[in-house]
This record gives sequence, C-alpha cells and structure tokens, in this order.
Amino acid sequence: MEKISIKGGKPLYGKVKISGSKNSSLAILASCLLTNKKISIYGVPKLTDTFFFLKILSSFGVNIEGLNNFKNTNKFVLEAKKITNNKAPYNLVRKMRASILVLGPLLARTGRAIVSLPGGCSIGARPVDIHLKSLEKLGAKIFIREGYIYAEAPKGLKGNKIVFPKVSVGATTNVLMAAVLAKGTTEIYNAAKEPEIKDLGLCLKSMGAKIKGLGTNKILIEGVKELKETSYKVMFDRIEAGTYALAVAITGGEIELLGVEKKSLTLFINVLETIGVNCIEKKNSLVFKRQSNSLNPIDVTTEPYPGFPTDLQAQLMAVMAVSNGTSVITENIFENRFMHAPELIRMGANIKLKGNLAIVNGVKRLKGAEVMATDLRASVSLVLAGLVAEGTTNINRIYHIDRGYQDIVKKLKFCGANISRI
Ligand code: UD1
Repeated sequence: MEKISIKGGKPLYGKVKISGSKNSSLAILASCLLTNKKISIYGVPKLTDTFFFLKILSSFGVNIEGLNNFKNTNKFVLEAKKITNNKAPYNLVRKMRASILVLGPLLARTGRAIVSLPGGCSIGARPVDIHLKSLEKLGAKIFIREGYIYAEAPKGLKGNKIVFPKVSVGATTNVLMAAVLAKGTTEIYNAAKEPEIKDLGLCLKSMGAKIKGLGTNKILIEGVKELKETSYKVMFDRIEAGTYALAVAITGGEIELLGVEKKSLTLFINVLETIGVNCIEKKNSLVFKRQSNSLNPIDVTTEPYPGFPTDLQAQLMAVMAVSNGTSVITENIFENRFMHAPELIRMGANIKLKGNLAIVNGVKRLKGAEVMATDLRASVSLVLAGLVAEGTTNINRIYHIDRGYQDIVKKLKFCGANISRI
C-alpha cells in the first residue's frame, strides 16, 4: 500500500496553484440532475471524491463528457437527458457520504429517489434527519426501509418555510437544489452561509433558478418549471488554501497561493496573523509568510461559516503542537473529530483531550514516526507535522488524502519539501 514519506525540517518557499473546491464541485455536479440540458463545469479538482461522484451521476444515466479523460481535464459537460435509474446503492454511498447530495435533485426532477442512508463515519454520527425533515416540508413522503431512504413526490414538490434546527451545509445544499424546481416559494431560515453554498446558488442562478439571500442565513427560492444550459467555473478550495497557509506556518518560509480570494478566508487570516503568520493580498493571490522562529498559541472554536472551519481544525492542531505556549481548540461541529491527536502525540506532541476540547501544549520539536491517516483532514495534519518533525515520518492509508488534495506531494515538493510517495 502506498505511503507518504517526509523528511522534516525544510522551510517552504514557492507558489502553489490552489485547485477548485471539492465541496463546491460535488454540489454543483449534482445540480446537473435538475435539468435535461447540458451543463459545463470548469475547475473540478482531480480527486478520488470528484471522480467517484461523477461515476455515481453516470450510474443515473447522466452522459459525462470528460469522464474518460479524468486525469487530464478539469472540465466536464454533463447531460442528464433522461434519468434511467434513481437509486444510489449502499456500496456507493458508504464509500462517500456526500452521495446524499443526489437526494434533493433526483427527487425534484423525477419525483422519486432511493438513497442508502450514509451511516456514521470516523468523525461523528453525521445523521441526515434535517435533510429528510426539510424535504418532507416540501411535500415529499419519506420512509426508511432496510437502510434505504425512499423519497417520493409524484406530483412534484411544493415551496414552504423551513427553519433548520442547526446549521447544516449538506441539508442547505439538498433543500436549495430541491426547491429550485418546487412549485411556489421556499424560505430557508438558519441556512448555511458557507461560500460553497453561494457558489452552488450562483451556478443554479446561471441555469435560470430564482434565488435570493445567498451567503446569508435566509435564502428565498422561487421555483421555476425548468432550467437551462449553463457553463460555470467552481470557486477555489478554501480548505486546501488554508492547509497550505498552515503548512508555511509550521515550517516557516513564504508561500504564494494562486487563484484565491481573501474574502472567504477573513477569519482564518486573523487567526494566522495572531499566531504569527503574515498575509499579503495580491491580485488573484495571497502570500503567507511566517514572521519569526516561534509561533504564538491561540484558542480557537470551530463554527459554521464565517467561523473557523472544522475542516482546518486538525491542521491548526498540528501547528499549535509546536507553538510557544498552550492553545485550547474546541470542536463544535463534529463529536469525534480528534482522531489526529493520538497520532500527533506519537510524534511527540503534548495534547490532552477533554470531551470536545483539545489542550495543546506546544513542544520544541516533533519527531518523525510511522503514523496512520484516519480521515481526510486528519491525514493532512500529519503531513504538516511531518514537514517540521525531526527525521522521517511515514503516513499510511493515504487514500484519505487523495480524496481532497490534488497533487499534494508535487505541490509541496515544488516549494522545497523533502516529500515523496512510496
Ligand atoms: C459539509 C462538508 C464538510 C464539512 C461540514 C461542516 C461537504 C461535502 N462536506 O459536511 O467538509 O466538514 O460541512 O462544515 O460539503 N447534522 C445533523 N443532522 C443533519 C445534518 C447535519 O445533526 O441532518 C449535524 C452533523 O452531524 C454535524 C453538523 O450538523 O454535527 C454539521 O454538519 P453538516 O454541515 O451537515 O456537514 P456535511 O454537510 O455533512
């Protein structure tokens, strides 16, 4: 099985082209199910998650130009002329939870969808109750049988007022897509404000959907009968960008991230500045530079956007593991998202876990070790730790990293890291 091997201790200098957003791509690709017209999507990152998602869409009868050339293109033309199958089976959904995002569009387009319940994953139970209750509010009849969600709305969906009990990116995505073709107006309260939701909404608007309030917690959707052809470029991956910024925080040096915008990273950049990493905005890029040899500790709580993203918590923990003091990291989104802590401890970090708190006492140095990736962001936090650790770090189960980081070894090598895939 492949591993990533890193000899730590080299500062990073160079430029990194940030890929298109994984999470945005998945939602936007799912929106092809809403129309029989062609939608052309640019900037899709080359990841196992996006490849797999395209495969799921093709199993529903979507014709996908570009899929046979996945390794060489980031443009896909999707045409769901006819949906020939509306069941997402367990063996697909269990591999990728985001498959639940086909539920809303399949139901809205065909009046019926059968999607396996995703189940929990290594970071938490991750129920989908909010998705299901909201679709019921739009008139769907939903029942669960033998681990499958059966959703039906033979006469179509009807707009309604939906108040989410908690902010959910996935539920906002599913309801937004379903409501676009529902009769009448849908109001979503306590909607997720993540930039990726806005990106999906802008793509839907380019297809003729009527949506107001994107980027706020109240989204208004006026259903339309049908959508039209579009071309759309997905936004940059702000989590990938944040990961490289944290990489330069841990190693020192200076990295220019190409293709990114400051506005969706504002709070994250404040955090970086507090710990001692400077950010300079250029046209279409951001330059991150560590200010001195030592990093300041910080207390951070993960929250829905615009708060600090849970998807950068593991990476921040690796950085704080070598800071000059004690940091408290509170994980507020997922109940079991500290799987990286024991691995970081094996590398010499001083971390104590108490419920959803991680108390990180900075140490002078980490030591290379044989470590295990447990989920996507946990695994990349081990890469960051490996970049600064003394000696060699071997990271196992790197298929997790391939789900979300295009060409990570190449990008880090280009900036001077001593890293390889073996
Ligand atoms: C999405 C992102 C993921 C990110 C997360 C939080 C995608 C493909 N994935 O995941 O990278 O870490 O947002 O920013 O975009 N919840 C319920 N019931 C529901 C739905 C969610 O209780 O029906 C809970 C979850 O268990 C979690 C919280 O709400 O505790 C937030 O989850 P949610 O925003 O839905 O995350 P995902 O959409 O799964």
